[in-house]
This record gives sequence, C-alpha cells and structure tokens, in this order.
Amino acid sequence: MLNAIVFLIILRAAPVLSSWIPSASNIFVEVATWLEPTNNLLAITEVNGPEGRTRRCRLMASGVDDTDGLELAVAKCGSRGIIDLPHPRYIISRPLDLRLEHSTLNVHGFLTFTDDLDYWKSNHIAFPFQNQSLGLVFHGHHFTLDGHNTGGIDGQGQKWYDDARREGNKYGRPMSLAISHSHDVVIKNWSIIQPQFWASLVAWSRNVLLKNVYVNATSYNPESWEEPDGKSWLQNTDGLDTYNADNVTVENFVYQGGDDCLALKANSTAITFRNITCVGGTGIAIGSLAQYPGVTDIIEDVWIEDVKLLPAPSNQCALFQGLLLKAWGAETHGTPPNGGGGGLGYAHNITFKDIYMEGIIRPIVLQSTLTYLSNVTLSPGNFEWSDLHFRNITAMSKYNRLIWLDCPAQHPCRNFTFRDMHLIPGATDHPELRYVCNNVVLGGKDGLNECHPSDSMLERREDGWPHE
Ligand SMILES: *[C@@H]1O[C@H](CO)[C@@H](O)[C@H](O)[C@H]1NC(C)=O
Ligand SMILES: *[C@@H]1O[C@H](CO)[C@@H](O)[C@H](O)[C@H]1NC(C)=O
Ligand SMILES: *[C@@H]1O[C@H](CO)[C@@H](O)[C@H](O)[C@H]1NC(C)=O
Ligand SMILES: *[C@@H]1O[C@H](CO)[C@@H](O)[C@H](O)[C@H]1NC(C)=O
Ligand SMILES: *[C@@H]1O[C@H](CO)[C@@H](O)[C@H](O)[C@H]1NC(C)=O
Ligand SMILES: *[C@@H]1O[C@H](CO)[C@@H](O)[C@H](O)[C@H]1NC(C)=O
Ligand SMILES: *[C@@H]1O[C@H](CO)[C@@H](O)[C@H](O)[C@H]1NC(C)=O
Ligand SMILES: *[C@@H]1O[C@H](CO)[C@@H](O)[C@H](O)[C@H]1NC(C)=O
Ligand SMILES: *[C@@H]1O[C@H](CO)[C@@H](O)[C@H](O)[C@H]1NC(C)=O
Ligand SMILES: *[C@@H]1O[C@H](CO)[C@@H](O)[C@H](O)[C@H]1NC(C)=O
Repeated sequence: MLNAIVFLIILRAAPVLSSWIPSASNIFVEVATWLEPTNNLLAITEVNGPEGRTRRCRLMASGVDDTDGLELAVAKCGSRGIIDLPHPRYIISRPLDLRLEHSTLNVHGFLTFTDDLDYWKSNHIAFPFQNQSLGLVFHGHHFTLDGHNTGGIDGQGQKWYDDARREGNKYGRPMSLAISHSHDVVIKNWSIIQPQFWASLVAWSRNVLLKNVYVNATSYNPESWEEPDGKSWLQNTDGLDTYNADNVTVENFVYQGGDDCLALKANSTAITFRNITCVGGTGIAIGSLAQYPGVTDIIEDVWIEDVKLLPAPSNQCALFQGLLLKAWGAETHGTPPNGGGGGLGYAHNITFKDIYMEGIIRPIVLQSTLTYLSNVTLSPGNFEWSDLHFRNITAMSKYNRLIWLDCPAQHPCRNFTFRDMHLIPGATDHPELRYVCNNVVLGGKDGLNECHPSDSMLERREDGWPHE
C-alpha cells in the first residue's frame, strides 16, 4: 500500500472535522495513514493489480446504521473492486439491493439486521414466489462474498420466531441473503446466524458456488421449547433455497434450524450438494412444487452426496423428514404461500448418495397431495417424478416409517432405484408401514422389492406428530 493514494470520503461530517471541511460531501484528501476510525467513514485506496487499476474500499462501522455506507462502498468499489468490512458489526436498518461485478466483498464481522418487525413487515423487497420478502439482495456477476470464517449475516431472528409462533410463512419476514439475477458467484466461509426467515436464496441465477457455509437458527425463548409438535417456532428458517437456478453447488454446509436444510424450488437444474450436515428441521427437500395452477416446475440433474442428518437438542426443532420430495395436490385451494395446488411439472435425474440419518421421523418421503391449509384435502397432483436413485442410505428412524412414496396414480413414479439401503425402524408395531410405495413402478432390479402399496396411517402419535 506504499505510495497508494487514499481518498477519504466523509459521509457525515464528524464535529471534530467540520471546522476544516469546506463542503459536506465527497471530499478527497491525500493522506498517508488511516485516520482514527470515525463513524461513517469510507476510505478508498487505488492499487494497481494484474488486471489494471483496482479500487479498494474500507468501510468503518458506524455503530448506528451502515446502510448508507454500504451503498456508497458498493458504488465506489462494487465494480472491479474490493470492499473490506473489518469490524465485528454493521447494522442493516433497511432493505438493500446491491450490485457487484468482478468484485469481492470481505465481511469479517456480521451484517446485522435491526429487529424492528413493524418496520420490516412494511419495508422489504418483494419476492413474488409465495408472496415472500427479501432483506438483503446481491445481483450482478463474477463476485465473491467472503466471510473469512468470522463473519456473514446476523438476522436477529428471535423476535421473528416469537412473532410467527405456530404460523407458517407469516407475511413480511425478510430472507437474510438473496443472490438474484446473477451469474458466476462465490459465497465462502460465510455464516448466517438467527435468520429471520429463509437464511439464503439463489434465484434467477446460474453458476453459483457456496463453500463452507454455516447457518444456525436457534430459539432462545423457553416458551417455544414447550411446543407439543417440537418445532420451537423455528419453521421457515430454511438454510438455502434455489428457484429458477442453474448450476448451483453447495459444498461443506452446516445447518441447524427448524425447516428445510436445503430445498430445491421450481426450476432448479444442475444442482450439486456435497458434504452437508443438518441438525434438526425437515431435511433435504425437493419442493414444494406444482403450487401454482397451470405453471410447469422443472427439477433436473441433481446430485446430493455425503449428507448427515442429525437430531437437534431436545429444546430445538426435532428432525422430521430426511429426504423430502413434495408436490402440491391436483386442485387449487386458497392462494400461496399456504394455499395453492394444481401445478404441473416434473423432477428427473436425481441421485442421493451416502446419506446418514438418525432420530428421524420419516427418512424418505414423497408427497403428492401437499397443502398447508389444515382444512382442505387435495387429491394427488400432476407433478411427475422419474429417474431418482438412492445409493448407500443409512437411516435410524424414530418410528415405523422408513420409505413412504405416495405417487399419483395418473403419473406413477418411474425408474426409482435403491442400492445399499440400511434402514432401521424405531418402532416395531405396524411393520406394514415401513416400506410404502403407492403408484411406484418397481421392476425387480430396483432394489426395493419389499415396497408395497398401503393407505395405512397407523403411525405412533404419542408426541403429537405426525398429525396427518
Ligand atoms: C401478500 O400478503 C400480504 C399480507 O397478507 C397481502 O396484503 C398482499 O396482498 C399479498 N400480496 C400478494 C401479491 O398476494
Ligand atoms: C475459506 O474457504 C476456502 C475454500 O473456499 C479454504 O481453502 C480456506 O481455508 C478458508 N479460509 C479459512 C480461513 O479457513
Ligand atoms: C458451473 O459453475 C461453476 C462455478 O461454480 C463453473 O466453474 C462451471 O464452469 C459451471 N458449469 C457450467 C456448465 O457452466
Ligand atoms: C447452533 O447454535 C446453538 C446456540 O449457540 C449451539 O448450541 C449449537 O451447537 C449450534 N449448532 C451447530 C450445528 O453448530
Ligand atoms: C465437510 O464439511 C465440514 C464442515 O464444513 C468440514 O469441517 C470438513 O472438512 C468437510 N470435509 C471435507 C472432506 O471437505
Ligand atoms: C419454470 O420453467 C418453465 C419452462 O421454462 C416455465 O414455463 C415456468 O414458468 C417456470 N416456472 C417458474 C416458477 O418460474
Ligand atoms: C444426471 O445429473 C447428473 C448430476 O447433475 C449429471 O452429472 C448427469 O450427466 C445427468 N444425467 C443425464 C443422463 O443427463
Ligand atoms: C456409505 O455412506 C456412509 C455414510 O452414511 C459413509 O460413511 C460410507 O463411506 C459410504 N460407503 C461407501 C461404500 O461409500
Ligand atoms: C379453510 O379455512 C380458511 C380460513 O382459515 C377459509 O378461508 C377457507 O374458506 C376454508 N376452506 C374450506 C374448504 O373450508
Ligand atoms: C433410469 O435412470 C438411469 C439413470 O438416470 C438411466 O440411465 C436409465 O436409462 C433410466 N431407465 C429408464 C428405463 O428410464
């Protein structure tokens, strides 16, 4: 940095400096060393890199609100630059949609959301799918978000969990991080703690790599620990969802929370998950799909390998499903997020390999009558599943079910194969529930000859779940 020219931009004039500041904004001062870090200070250095001149922005934390500072840093260094956030805590008080190209954002501490619920419920970036909400969006291409194993995002989710007690998809809960309309993106060594809703989303994007990512949604409210269904109010704290996304890779991902660890929503193609640990929640989900009448959802070319699904601490969200394939029923009842149905589409070429799970209620489930409305029943929908391959799956189930595939009669599941299955039930009553395959075309070489049609629902219910 020797001989580098340092530009200091004063966002808001500190009183001590105001005597020599001739005007309020954009003052360039040549200095040799950093001044004492002051609130709302952005320092820019220009360095000559191998690809030419590069700008490097270093933003100090204000302690109050860092949204203006972040926007300015992105405006100055978000294109062919580097942005450094060295401090432990940067406050996000309003929705941000930031553009990055050929640049890196180094977040050494946490981008911390304010938890003024009323504010966020009426101020967020709309995400049309399921009428959901975004808090922080990055869009662009060839950019990296690097949390250096010490930083990322703190959603301050506890108030959101308390507010959404027993209410799925409550309106206005912003997702902590969205990558949208982007390509060639890397997110690495990055944590998202206490997400308000889904921790992260990749939408309308391609070529995205998440490597060494950690998500943890924990309820510290003892009231939530007494819930009969064991969900601890942590529902909708998904780790990552993909939507209209192509070529997304997730490697070395650790999740604790109360919903899908990883979920593929409509139009997720060429997706690879490798070395994933999920503690509590509802496992790895393909879905939900076919929620919107007349819309075709496509899932294709998915590889999911080396996954551990482990039980959560007893006061957090239990582990419900392991591998969960879920499509809405045939009729349309209500509107999204919790109503809908009647959509179309298919999932094709999915492999699950080297999966370990324990303490799980339903290890492998396929649903075709999904609705989140408790007062309606839908008949099996029109979403089709084919070429699904399960290899080396170890599951210690909590109750009776091991595999429960409930495919639509009008679109049977085709070309499902099972190899090296090590499945152990946790309950010995109703052995007929262990392997249920409704409308699955099984050949003889598919490795699941014990699977049979059944409508029985006689599972154990002593801890209030399942309650279908
Ligand atoms: C989203 O939900 C909110 C709150 O229920 C509602 O006011 C709004 O009309 C909904 N928007 C859409 C597009 O459904
Ligand atoms: C950050 O992640 C990379 C892989 O993306 C890894 O090689 C590196 O060791 C990590 N950094 C630290 C500080 O662990
Ligand atoms: C998929 O994305 C990775 C980066 O994550 C990239 O290296 C690779 O070339 C992409 N594959 C295709 C087919 O575009
Ligand atoms: C999640 O956070 C809680 C509270 O800090 C901690 O007890 C738990 O071990 C964490 N889970 C993982 C998987 O790191
Ligand atoms: C798998 O992920 C865990 C957690 O991120 C990490 O500690 C471990 O080194 C990874 N294993 C491999 C083989 O990369
Ligand atoms: C998914 O892709 C199909 C085919 O391109 C398209 O018709 C459909 O609208 C897309 N679905 C969503 C939810 O974007
Ligand atoms: C199935 O998906 C995998 C994983 O994306 C891919 O490597 C493979 O080429 C696909 N198979 C076919 C026949 O397209
Ligand atoms: C099967 O999966 C387990 C994890 O459940 C893994 O430890 C083991 O190495 C895998 N076996 C083979 C042959 O890959
Ligand atoms: C289900 O309940 C909702 C209110 O929660 C109501 O609007 C709807 O009409 C009910 N549907 C049926 C089929 O009873
Ligand atoms: C079943 O899936 C495998 C792997 O995707 C594929 O090679 C094979 O052709 C499929 N078989 C049928 C009968 O579709």
